[in-house]
Amino acid sequence: MPAAGGIGPGNGKEYPGNLTPFVTVTCIVASMGGLIFGYDIGISGGVTTMAPFLQKFFPKVWEKKEADKSTNQYCQYDSQTLTMFTSSLYLAALLASVVASTVTRKLGRKLSMLFGGLLFFVGALINGFAKAVWMLIVGRLLLGFGVGFANQSVPLYLSEMAPYKYRGALNIGFQLSITVGILVANVLNYFFAKIKGGWGWRLSLGGAMVPALIITIGSLVLPDTPNSMIERGQTEEAKTKLKKIRGIDDVEEEFKDLVAASDASKLVDHPWTNLLQRKYRPHLTMAVLIPFFQQLTGINVIMFYAPVLFNTIGFGDDASLMSAVITGIVNVVATLVSIYGVDKWGRRFLFLEGGVQMLICQAVVAASIGAKFGTSGNPGELPKWYAIVVVLFICVYVAGFAWSWGPLGWLVPSEIFPLEIRSAAQSVNVSVNMLFTFAVAQVFLIMLCHLKFGLFLFFAFFVVLMSIFVYYFLPETKGIPIEEMNQVWKSHWYWSRFVEDHDHPNGGMEMSKGGLGPKNV
Ligand code: BGC
Repeated sequence: MPAAGGIGPGNGKEYPGNLTPFVTVTCIVASMGGLIFGYDIGISGGVTTMAPFLQKFFPKVWEKKEADKSTNQYCQYDSQTLTMFTSSLYLAALLASVVASTVTRKLGRKLSMLFGGLLFFVGALINGFAKAVWMLIVGRLLLGFGVGFANQSVPLYLSEMAPYKYRGALNIGFQLSITVGILVANVLNYFFAKIKGGWGWRLSLGGAMVPALIITIGSLVLPDTPNSMIERGQTEEAKTKLKKIRGIDDVEEEFKDLVAASDASKLVDHPWTNLLQRKYRPHLTMAVLIPFFQQLTGINVIMFYAPVLFNTIGFGDDASLMSAVITGIVNVVATLVSIYGVDKWGRRFLFLEGGVQMLICQAVVAASIGAKFGTSGNPGELPKWYAIVVVLFICVYVAGFAWSWGPLGWLVPSEIFPLEIRSAAQSVNVSVNMLFTFAVAQVFLIMLCHLKFGLFLFFAFFVVLMSIFVYYFLPETKGIPIEEMNQVWKSHWYWSRFVEDHDHPNGGMEMSKGGLGPKNV
């Protein structure tokens, strides 16, 4: 019997069909969802170092920053309202991703993306024209809803569209567009900050309308995925679409499996409670711990606050924004390395190598900042070489993240969930990611103020923890078809006790429903 939903050689078969121009263009357009997410990540840190922006919306922070010039550098930006501005987006995204899982399932991936794009657009518009803090927050909440919808639907869309052989590369394409979005935002911040008259921040924030329009228009022209069409009863149209996507007429085998997969997942009434079954313990653990650890690398301290941080270690406003551009470039290039290596060297190698690399850098950065700033936060005169060394190690740290936890934090969860729990587990993954993105953004400035250089040791501790976790608990998933994934748990020293022989998530479902063949064919 074929594995339900099997796109891949799970039971020794391979579907015909190639990487057609149609599917390539479709996936490139769809991954623009990542671009918007990235733009948001990159833009806020730069904007919050722009003097006119601070003066207008956060005058207390501005005054404190000015007045405290020569005293404690660690606490200059410690403002609840300022952090709320940055982190409100992620709380909104968390809520939206839960709602989006239903919209995505019932109304299709396309419509979810459209909602995402529209919400983004309105949020960016309100932000660009903001006159008061509440407008900034409302705008950012809307952007957050947009992110929630996009991050729930885009990865799903890509996986369903992609021919199985290219699923991995296309998945990291999503992360690549996140990093490109961050970089574009950093570059724009750099130039917009120079605009005379001090309204450059309006362009930075309003600029999010451009990627929002791209994904909005994109979602209108994109085809819906065959899976989604079948799920909503458009079986014949789905078959025609599948032929077009794969560029061949012979799609019978894959098509049958898609229908079977849809039937199988309809048998599961409550995907959420299903997730709590003992046999899904390894999956649930990964759905929670992978995004948790990804955020506890501390990466977003750099992504959100790089200019603030560089300001703290003595760079002028301009040099700070420039440094953020440099880390942005490193982020993009290192992601390309991951695309190249992930199927050659494997996930575990990248996770562990990236972990060691990040750990060393965090230790060096903590030591350098500690040596100069001590606990008083008053560094005196900072030599140029010093700032350069810190930026250099931050870049090596970003590279470590960008070829390990960055892309793998999205790729690994997407490839280990069996079909019947996939959407629910993906929602858990996105929500946990957003929750801890929110938490890190919210507490970073307070932590910098209180933990001082020890902040970097705090994240270093978690990097040690996550590397140990990967070493002992994360099986290698490289080159394993999704349908065969059960094997990796069954042969694992720890997880084997949860997954038993008869627990064939997809295969089992397929067997039990036996004669449920394709409908309307
Ligand atoms: C993470 C983001 C992070 C980005 C950096 C993503 O994988 O989810 O939180 O800002 O990588 O490139």
